[in-house]
Amino acid sequence: FHVDWDLVTAEKAGYDHFMLKEIYEQPKAYRDTMMGRVSDDGKTVTLKEIGMTTEQIKAIRKVHIVACGTAFHAGLVGKTIIENLARIPVETDVASEYRYRSPIITPDTLVIVVSQSGETADTLAALREAKRNGARVLAVTNVVGSSVAREADDVIITQAGPEIAVASTKAYTSQLIAFSLFGLYLAEVLGTKDGAWVAEVIDAMHQLPEQVEAILAQANVLKQVAESISKHDNLFFIGRGVDFAVAQEGSLKLKEISYIHSEAYAAGELKHGTLALIEEGIPVIAVITQEDLYEKTLSNIKEVKARGAHVLAIVNEGMEHEVAKSVDETFVIPKTLQVLAPALSVVPLQLIAYYASLARGNDVDKPRNLAKSVTVE
Ligand code: G6P
Repeated sequence: FHVDWDLVTAEKAGYDHFMLKEIYEQPKAYRDTMMGRVSDDGKTVTLKEIGMTTEQIKAIRKVHIVACGTAFHAGLVGKTIIENLARIPVETDVASEYRYRSPIITPDTLVIVVSQSGETADTLAALREAKRNGARVLAVTNVVGSSVAREADDVIITQAGPEIAVASTKAYTSQLIAFSLFGLYLAEVLGTKDGAWVAEVIDAMHQLPEQVEAILAQANVLKQVAESISKHDNLFFIGRGVDFAVAQEGSLKLKEISYIHSEAYAAGELKHGTLALIEEGIPVIAVITQEDLYEKTLSNIKEVKARGAHVLAIVNEGMEHEVAKSVDETFVIPKTLQVLAPALSVVPLQLIAYYASLARGNDVDKPRNLAKSVTVE
């Protein structure tokens, strides 16, 4: 009798790679991260883990979000969420820059550190710097008992479960859920949004897991896109607002595991230099989910199209017909509130990176030169 599997194969639960398994675990990660943090009637957020009093929350004058890599990209979305929902000014920095730019940290600053592992050296050092300056620190981390979790004043644990692949997927999207919950919580305490609106966001958040499943069901389409992308050496991601933040994460994912050079650009900034690099046949992935910015991004898409780019648009339901006229391909994501769109639009980008890496014959889960957790500065 011969058993033809080992522990690693068993842990992959039938998936070829941990990354793919983790991409498919996102609906569960969303549900688990929300579990117990929303009231039974679905109308309010109840973050019992936040120890700040109402007075302390009302005293917050600014928020600094500090993180590295993918967690930093979640922080870029977090900035928009908090500014939108709570109307508090937010700055997001990469941790290795934050510490050395003499940030103005005062006791009325809330510093939010975001870290999947909770052990990243630069992030931990930023946390300590914040505390030394009297700020209150909130950690968003996936690991209970990690250094970041132990040293922060308040902790929101993302319930993504263990993430093994070096390229982060479900931890990132769970961080987006955590930011949405925290943003809503601030809005409730500060009264910046009315109850009906908060309930509407919570309802839309409950729909996200099924909407992610609908995206995952179309993985084959993305596999084809990725296979054609894998033949190129350069490409661009463009978007505005949170779509730009998602574009940055999509670009990082692709670089990390496919080794294809890509850049993410704020769509409106292209004309100030990068447009010179657009030539016949170059792939451009445009993220276009924000109704407010739709016309503007569409005009940037037309600029790259006119110079011969091959454009794939990640577009939300309802806008696809208009966008389809100006691009080569569209991938439609289910309709959600604008502020929640990143939790959906990043999923096709994760799958494109995964399949491009596969097409190039790379080690998807263990890309060259990279580590899952970086504990040196
Ligand atoms: C490493 C990993 C990235 C991760 C970054 C921050 O570079 O390869 O995937 O985003 O560290 O890690 P953290 O655990 O702090 O989120």
